[in-house]
Amino acid sequence: MKRQYLVLAAGLLVAGGAHAALDNTTAEAMMKKDGCAACHTIDKKLVGPPYMEVSAKYKGDAGAVAKLVDKVKKGGVGVWGQIPMPPNAQVPEADIKDLVTWILTLKK
Ligand code: HEC
Repeated sequence: MKRQYLVLAAGLLVAGGAHAALDNTTAEAMMKKDGCAACHTIDKKLVGPPYMEVSAKYKGDAGAVAKLVDKVKKGGVGVWGQIPMPPNAQVPEADIKDLVTWILTLKK
């Protein structure tokens, strides 16, 4: 049953281009599909910073969504260290927006 709801939710997101905040399960599935999971987790440092730390860093920054969507699309380096994030040009912009919006809702 749970699984059916998930599939339905994912379908609605794709069909409607909705930008409601994702729940963690949907977001983690999207992280895997879009390749983010190779370098990021919610709470542990892998290649990139844990998403909880990202959320804490940009707390209260009204421009954070736009800035981070751009960064994820084009890649970049120097905010978290000397390891670069490569461009994620193959990932749909709607996915990046949904993921960044969700990342910024995470709390430590
Ligand atoms: C090959 C590894 C890799 C992949 C794949 C990757 N990232 Fe990253 N990510 C990084 C690294 C390394 C950084 C730190 C960059 C820096 O220090 O400026 C980072 C930083 C970030 C940040 C914070 C940027 C900032 O300037 O504070 C966000 C948000 C982010 N990644 C989201 C994503 C999302 C969403 C995806 C999937 C679409 C993704 N990343 C895919 C390695 C990766």
